[in-house]
Amino acid sequence: HAQLRGDELIVVSNREPYIHETGPDGVHFKRPASGLVTAVEPVMRACSGTWIAHGSGSADRSVVDKHDRVMVPPGSEEYTLRRIWLTPEEEQGYYYGFANEGLWPLCHVAHVRPVFRESDWEAYRRVNERFADAVVAEARSADPVVLVQDYHFALLPALIRQRLPRATILTFWHIPWPNPESFSICPWRTELLEGLLGSTILGFHTRFHCKNFIETVDRNLEARTEHEHSTVTINKQTTLVESYPISIAWPSDTQRAAWPSVADCRSAVRHRLGLGPAHKLAVGVDRFDYTKGILERIHAVERMLEKHPSWVGEFSLVQVAAPSRSDLDEYKAFQQRIHQVVGRVNARFGSPGYQAIYLLAEHHEHDAVTELYRAAEVCMVTSLHDGMNLVCKEFVAARDDEQGVMILSRFAGAAAELNEALIVNPYHVEESADALYRAITMPAAEQRERMANLRMTVRDFNVYRWAGRMLADAARWRLRERIEARM
Ligand code: G6P
Repeated sequence: HAQLRGDELIVVSNREPYIHETGPDGVHFKRPASGLVTAVEPVMRACSGTWIAHGSGSADRSVVDKHDRVMVPPGSEEYTLRRIWLTPEEEQGYYYGFANEGLWPLCHVAHVRPVFRESDWEAYRRVNERFADAVVAEARSADPVVLVQDYHFALLPALIRQRLPRATILTFWHIPWPNPESFSICPWRTELLEGLLGSTILGFHTRFHCKNFIETVDRNLEARTEHEHSTVTINKQTTLVESYPISIAWPSDTQRAAWPSVADCRSAVRHRLGLGPAHKLAVGVDRFDYTKGILERIHAVERMLEKHPSWVGEFSLVQVAAPSRSDLDEYKAFQQRIHQVVGRVNARFGSPGYQAIYLLAEHHEHDAVTELYRAAEVCMVTSLHDGMNLVCKEFVAARDDEQGVMILSRFAGAAAELNEALIVNPYHVEESADALYRAITMPAAEQRERMANLRMTVRDFNVYRWAGRMLADAARWRLRERIEARM
């Protein structure tokens, strides 16, 4: 990651990488369940710099200095976290409202209707302004490299551009970009597009999302789009729209050496659930979110057990569902529905000491998740729509024994890269049920062959390559602009 050295780096995201909470024995921190944080944090540790984010934990305010800064990670202090405090009204309108009731369902085809409230939009605009001011306050030079993250900040690139015209602004959209018809129902579509086009580079996970974005611009703005070079020019500002599939940091030898053996993980997890040593497990790890296909996954398990009753009592799904955005009605209703359906399926197949589905509806730290990955025969990612999905890449990274089968939704960005997974359409219960059966009966040799290839892909296309490619493109771009300015 040579491109990352020498430049001043500022990251902006809504979610902070470390959340400080007050517990009975003082302040402790937790790592949030967020694909964005999983990917960007190792890059920040490698480059240092400043990460500006919304302060969210109960103890967050007590650990910062008078400029609202704290060095993180706790204990090793490699970069600065600058926290922005939002009022309850701002958080309601900007985060819960416009970002998560408006843009989140707008961009994911998951059949949840987006809600657009004028007051949410006002709060979203205001909060984007506040973050733009914070970028200026934190910047020590006139041309920092600012990495703007995700749908919480569509207006930020143009706001930074007004204040720091020489900044290199790399914006990454971590969720899908829908087709122009879907996007165009948004009352503020032109403001959002113009905001994003303040970026030097605008990144998506896949070519398909880039194409959707450029078509959306074509339909809604008087801009010059060059499909061949994948650029958009408006008000003399040209933005490169490019795909950069995000990934994870491949675990180091030291990290791996600290992992308990696969045998120990297997017995620890089975022991905790009161299951026998030969019991087969599939694992699902998600935020408790309606885009993740958790209901469809449960239906697939149910159908598999119905078709292959000899597996009743011998197989279970362990589903981690980390509570997320639970203040929103849509999320509350979804959580209730999942609890209900799990109850029904367990009543149907369960017996004393056995459940078909273990729903662990609480936050799990990374070590606990790694233990589950290493203990399971199968990992199920059945998102109805997902920008990339990093759970599948983490599962692959955790399996240094080259065993375990990945079942992956074709509607996750990762399906384009992870060809050796069993790819399913989660809307098709029968297909997913058959894939699950195939996974739990797959011979070890075939598992090894598939897993070895998957591991090569994830190791080579890791998150440093993601960041490195974006920064290399930015450097080339700046150089060209400078040369053209001289002509
Ligand atoms: C997705 C989004 C991230 C977000 C994460 C967790 O991965 O792309 O921006 O951080 O979900 O959601 P939350 O609302 O808890 O931050």
